[in-house]
Amino acid sequence: MSPLTRRQLLALGAAGAGATVVGGTGLWWTTTGGTGYTGGEELIEPQVLTSRDRILELELTAAPARIQIGGREASLQAFDGSLPGPTLRVAPGDTVRVAMHNRMETPTNLHVHGLHVSPEGNGDNPFLSIDPGESFDYEFVLPADHPPGTYWYHPHRHGHVADQVAAGLYGAIVVEDPEPVPVTRERVMVVSDLTLDAAGHLADVSPMQQMTGREGEVVLVNGQVRPQITAAPGERERWRIINACPSRYLRLQLEGQHVRLLSRDLGRLPVPEEITEALITPGNRIELLVETTEGSSALITAPVDRGGMGAMMGRGRMSGNEPGDDEPTELLTLDVSGDPGRTPTPVPAGQALRDLRGEPITARRTLDFAMGMSGTMGGRGAMTGGDEDTTGMGFTINGQEFDPARVDTPVTAGTVEEWTLVNSSPMDHPVHLHVWPMQVVQDGDRDVLAPRWLDVVNVPARSQVKVLIAFDDFPGRTVYHCHILDHEDQGMMGTVEAR
Ligand code: C2O
Ligand code: CU
Ligand code: CU
Repeated sequence: MSPLTRRQLLALGAAGAGATVVGGTGLWWTTTGGTGYTGGEELIEPQVLTSRDRILELELTAAPARIQIGGREASLQAFDGSLPGPTLRVAPGDTVRVAMHNRMETPTNLHVHGLHVSPEGNGDNPFLSIDPGESFDYEFVLPADHPPGTYWYHPHRHGHVADQVAAGLYGAIVVEDPEPVPVTRERVMVVSDLTLDAAGHLADVSPMQQMTGREGEVVLVNGQVRPQITAAPGERERWRIINACPSRYLRLQLEGQHVRLLSRDLGRLPVPEEITEALITPGNRIELLVETTEGSSALITAPVDRGGMGAMMGRGRMSGNEPGDDEPTELLTLDVSGDPGRTPTPVPAGQALRDLRGEPITARRTLDFAMGMSGTMGGRGAMTGGDEDTTGMGFTINGQEFDPARVDTPVTAGTVEEWTLVNSSPMDHPVHLHVWPMQVVQDGDRDVLAPRWLDVVNVPARSQVKVLIAFDDFPGRTVYHCHILDHEDQGMMGTVEAR
């Protein structure tokens, strides 16, 4: 593994460009306007499956599906033929049993992103593989003190994750609050993106797109193009927003409305924070309280620079050839009109958040997230050969690509560790750890003062972030990885075992 030279990058870019032309799809990075889609329908929410008597039992079938997207017929893959899949609504202490069926042509499995549940056996086990035509019975047992919040599920079969999530396999999980937050209504909004070819199939993904992380030409909310929602003035809505895009960062803004942040990833903030925008990387969730004011507002995602080829070559952002957009993209519109609704009672303060800085630290580790050319660079063979390594680019943590048989990070169950997440590459990496959330204590040179808990932490290009992790409640082996799913599939994933 050696660092990239400018020449190698140019070669890679050229190979990618060739591949795109051959593939006939034309553009690397198309604009998110996406051509030929119609928008503006009422926002639809997926079916909600709610636990009864502490148990939620369901079947979940991952299969090819024909789905209408913005007036076009798309050939995708979906859970139970629905985009997103059904929303699972549970309470702390509940047990979720999922009979998962794979009716696709590729192996798959199921991950419950953000849930604090056992990674072993038929729990949240990312090492399982369900072959085409096979089924598997999962069971997830939430502890009685599981944090409330918005979580999600998606496949996690290494080598297929980006393709399967991009194809439509994701759904929301809501863990109820112990004390309800007074709102007029709640909405679940699963944000995803995709690119269709003229026939409505998912467009091929070039080596360049895999390297930078694919971004789709159109951004969807609950599988819809720019849907619309309506409310009366003076209402309070709770929006549960999930970034289910394989690679796209979202910088959300909603002008003209009073917006407070209620939650990021897990739990809820003791006091909701006034915000004007929120950056959510792939895998992250936020909950917003929106207090409505008469008028029409758009939820937009503003451009995000998450690094890329330009940065790698020591240039600036190369417009049109970089991840992210140069223009804001409209995700949905909110129309507020009519007789004023009744304003709900004030939001009671939530529980104080745990602060691990007061607890003894058993171990300190550094994890280095790097990108470099793997093997001998250059050949077009390196670009086009191999199933997993299609870019000739190595995506490593501490110099190693993912190996499911290896234990990279043995930890002692019940202890607190400090991990320094170092990004030595010219692109941002959103770093995710399964089962155990992370408390961010230092971002670059800045100390983070208030307790800040996340399960996906953005580590900016050529920077570092320090987190504390309490390996509580469950022994077992699981993974951490970059949540740019193309990077994960290409090896930017490691294993951790608590014993
Ligand atoms: Cu959202 Cu390991 O995944
Ligand atoms: Cu996860
Ligand atoms: Cu990455």
